[in-house]
Formats: sequence, structure tokens, C-alpha cells
Amino acid sequence: MDTEPVVVSAADAPQLAPVKGNVEFKNVTFGYTADTPVLNDVSFNVTAGETIALVGATGAGKSTIVNLLSRFYDINGGSILIDGVDIRGVNIESLRRQMGIMTQDSYIFSGTIRDNIAYGKLDATEEEIVAAAKAVHAHDFISRLKDGYDTKLTARGGELSNGQRQLVAFARTMLSNPHILVLDEATSSIDTKTELLVQAGIRDLLKGRTSFVIAHRLSTIQNADRIFVIDDGGIVESGSPADLMAKKGAYYKLRQAQFA
Ligand SMILES: Nc1ncnc2c1ncn2[C@@H]1O[C@H](COP(=O)(O)OP(=O)(O)OP(=O)(O)O)[C@@H](O)[C@H]1O
Ligand SMILES: [Mg+2]
Repeated sequence: MDTEPVVVSAADAPQLAPVKGNVEFKNVTFGYTADTPVLNDVSFNVTAGETIALVGATGAGKSTIVNLLSRFYDINGGSILIDGVDIRGVNIESLRRQMGIMTQDSYIFSGTIRDNIAYGKLDATEEEIVAAAKAVHAHDFISRLKDGYDTKLTARGGELSNGQRQLVAFARTMLSNPHILVLDEATSSIDTKTELLVQAGIRDLLKGRTSFVIAHRLSTIQNADRIFVIDDGGIVESGSPADLMAKKGAYYKLRQAQFA
């Protein structure tokens, strides 16, 4: 926690006004080190409310794209715009406050389930917490626990299954109500019943927000508005799930390989 952040905004950088969620990458070039470029001249436009599934081989650059959107790193060339505003020109806190980021290991800390959800909005009322849990289909399993929302969790959340941990993280994100959502889906296998809940949770969480989903679940990919296939430092194919299946190109091949 004492580590100095790599990227800081100028002390006088203006706040990013509440965003609608239009996202544009304009000729973005980036590498973690100078000699190994990861993204090469990447451009795309995402309209507020769209769900984009990022697919591609491991190491292709999917996480890199979403990391750049939160400005965890600065790009080497081009620009990244949210609602037409270059993210380098605004206060970083005000940018990240409007983003919901969920990574593969849905982070649970020690405290009650209520605490874990309320972290998404520290001044949330009990009603808001329960409503968020209901919205992502987490309320039922929580209510069935002996201590309900008062159930104590340890730092890794070992008291819950993988899927249940995810549902708690979804509830937290739902409560924080971000305009732009980034979801790095977990690949870990979940029992079928929880899987259905998690699917429903994801669906409701994505509603009405711009979402970037690094998707492994076929259901999430198929429900996306558009798929970006990432390879070779850029987007090699994009389109609706149906179009890309019909086209029998990169996405089709990837799916044949992945889900054979
Ligand atoms: N922090 C980092 N420092 C240096 N190189 C990195 C860093 N993070 C990622 N890379 C490199 O950047 C490239 C793209 O990585 P990225 O994490 O974006 O891939 P990905 O598509 O998300 O893969 P996966 O499906 O395995 O999560 C890889 O070659 C990786 O080794
Ligand atoms: Mg990744």
C-alpha cells in the first residue's frame, strides 16, 4: 500500500464529470516495456450501454486493454476518451470512482457479508444492501446461511463457494452502481446451480452500463452486443456473436478450439 502509483494525475486536473459511458480508443499503442509492444494502433468505439466481450488467447492483451481504460498505465501513443474526454486530462480518482472493476479473484476481506457488500457504497442503508444482493441473485443463498448477512468471512472467503464469493462481489459492484464495468471472468468451475445464479447475476449487473467482459463463459459471450477478438497486438475481428459465428473466421476458430 506504500508503493507509489505509476500513474498520477496533475494536482490541478479537473474532475471527470458523471459519464454516460461512451468509450473510444484512438490509435492506441502500448507496451509494458519499451522493447515489447503489446497493443499496436488499436482503435474502437463503444456506445454507452453496450456489452463488449473480449476474447483471445492467453497473453493476447485483453486485460491490458481494460487496465488502460482505468489508466493503470499511460499509453505510448494515441488517446483513450470517455464521453469524448481524454482520460489523461482528468483526476484519476474521479475516473476510477465511475468504474466497477471485478477481477478473477473476487476479492473478499475479513468481516461480515454485509460489510463485504457495503464496501461498494460505504454509506449504504440496509435496504440498499439487500436490494443490491437481490438484484444479482445473491440474497437467497445469503438468507439461507445461519447468520445471514451477519455471516463472518475470513480474508479469502473460504466459508463460501467460488460462485457464492462471486455473487457477493457482484452485489458490492451493483451497490456502487458504476457507469462502466469491467469484468474479468473467473474460469473456475462452479456447480451447475450456482453457475445459473452467477449467469443471471452477470446479466442483471451488465444492464444499462457500458461493460467490458473478458469472457470465458459461453453464455456471457453469446449475450454480448459485440465481440472483440484480440490477437497480434490488436482487434483482429469484431461483430455480433451471430455474425462472427456465420463468418467462420477468428472467433469461430477460437470457439471450435475452446469448446470442442
Ligand atoms: N504488468 C506487466 N508487466 C509486463 N508485461 C506484462 C504485464 N502484464 C501483462 N504483460 C504482458 O502483456 C501481454 C498481454 O498480457 P495480458 O495480461 O493483457 O493478456 P490477456 O489477454 O489478459 O491474457 P489472459 O487470458 O491469460 O488473462 C503478455 O505478453 C504479458 O506477458
Ligand atoms: Mg487477462
